[in-house]
Amino acid sequence: MRDFLTSNIDKIAKKVYNKLYIGLLVPKLGKRGVDVLKNTENTAAYARVRAYCEGYLEKNGHRPLAYVYSFGCQQNVSDGEKLKGQLSLAGFEFTDDTEQAQLIIYNTCAVRENAENTVYGAVGDLKHLKEQKPDLIIGICGCMAQLKHVAEKVKASYRQVDLVFGTFAYNELFEMLCTVIYDKKRVFELSERTTEISEDFVQIRDSKIKAFVPIMYGCNNFCTYCIVPYVRGRERSRKPEAVIAEVRKLIGEGYKEITLLGQNVNSYSYGFPQLLREIDKIEGDYWVRFMSSHPKDATNELIDTIIDSKHICKSLHLPVQAGSDRVLKAMNRRYTTEDYLKITDYARQRCPGFSFSTDIIVGFPGESKEEFEQTKAIIKRVGYDNIYSFVYSKRSGTPAANMPDDTDDKTKGLRLRELLLEQRENIERLFSRFLGKEIKVLVEAKGRQKSLAGRNTEGIIVEFDGDESLIGQFVDVKITSTANWALFGEYIKKGEIK
Ligand code: SAH
Ligand code: SF4
Ligand code: F3S
Repeated sequence: MRDFLTSNIDKIAKKVYNKLYIGLLVPKLGKRGVDVLKNTENTAAYARVRAYCEGYLEKNGHRPLAYVYSFGCQQNVSDGEKLKGQLSLAGFEFTDDTEQAQLIIYNTCAVRENAENTVYGAVGDLKHLKEQKPDLIIGICGCMAQLKHVAEKVKASYRQVDLVFGTFAYNELFEMLCTVIYDKKRVFELSERTTEISEDFVQIRDSKIKAFVPIMYGCNNFCTYCIVPYVRGRERSRKPEAVIAEVRKLIGEGYKEITLLGQNVNSYSYGFPQLLREIDKIEGDYWVRFMSSHPKDATNELIDTIIDSKHICKSLHLPVQAGSDRVLKAMNRRYTTEDYLKITDYARQRCPGFSFSTDIIVGFPGESKEEFEQTKAIIKRVGYDNIYSFVYSKRSGTPAANMPDDTDDKTKGLRLRELLLEQRENIERLFSRFLGKEIKVLVEAKGRQKSLAGRNTEGIIVEFDGDESLIGQFVDVKITSTANWALFGEYIKKGEIK
């Protein structure tokens, strides 16, 4: 660790550091925050960002506000929570209003073209803000920011952006901010280095009920359509001790739902079913979910572990992507529909109500009408409680981008609609299995049609009338009717996970 007290940093930074150690900040940051700082190699940069925040407070009467918005998957949302944790350590507070913000960070997704276009639109809209407030700091980070062509486009055409950094640079946030704040230079940090996973992040979680816990990062699968392995690097797993300690702490703090995250959680290198069994031993009133699972690594042991557990939700998000073996091969998915159905059949044979959800890509290059029909057929055969379906989006640099594609966009759009209609019909049949049943629900928020909304173990939205004080608790609800997006019922009593 750098001994920065003897290094050449400015006076105010030293003062802030000393303040920290005489304990003024300890109550605010908590012991973990201070431990994190002690372990942070770039503490000098931290102190300088802290000094900037203190100076801002002195001048403006309030701390600088940061606006951090994460697009994309839960993994990205979790990264955004870590960014907020670091910014809070340095003295920022947060706002949901870009107009009030002194620092704006878009944490981006690159999985489909429209995800990228949304970010360009949002950043374009900030141009006038920067003109009014030249010391506003604007940053783009995350998956899209890891792509070279994106950084080049931003460098040339989005002059209002000060900071672009990819998914490998989170632990250099303070240094990058110093370059922008003190050296008045733009930063483009895309280098790809797979360092040890840092456990030294304090997180500001968006919810007090549900928490995301990444257990692994990156992906080795290289599905031919997918950009993720290029922007998130190779698989790295966190140590089970670290994961279990974090889950135990969250449950102790009262979190009711823990979602373990990874691009492919079941290739967790220390054994995924074992990890689930260890977590399940933790006493308390909580549920565990996880995503995503790759069918090639889904085993009967995984299904048994879920079914035999107390806290793990009886549902599995198992992206099938397509129902044709030719298309699956072209996608490099490394399973056949037969392999896939063996897993779903095994689960249903052990537990008939076992819930599956999935991702589907419509219009992969070369997908014929018959092959699309096969996707509809597998959807019907499995019966999914939830489907996330997407029209194939060409990602430059991936193998599928060079595959011949003779289906036009309009046909692809029609296929997507057809798929959604098919699923709508299936849902009516599937959801009817809950009618008249008493089920457990974790209440999350106010409802759309009834006063409260939550989810059951299958992950399906359940709405019912009840007192707001039930938000954040498990309750028993009797299901009386269904729609194609939710179940409706009557509140019976408070429930617990036994
Ligand atoms: N690692 C996860 C998924 C990450 S991306 C998994 O393998 O399950 C989430 C979903 O986006 C994918 O499952 C896929 O259905 C979809 N997707 C990925 N790349 C895409 C592309 N180029 N076009 C359309 N959909 C895509
Ligand atoms: Fe992408 Fe495939 Fe990896 Fe999922 S498993 S992130 S779809 S390459
Ligand atoms: Fe998007 Fe990156 Fe997640 S590309 S889906 S935010 S891993």
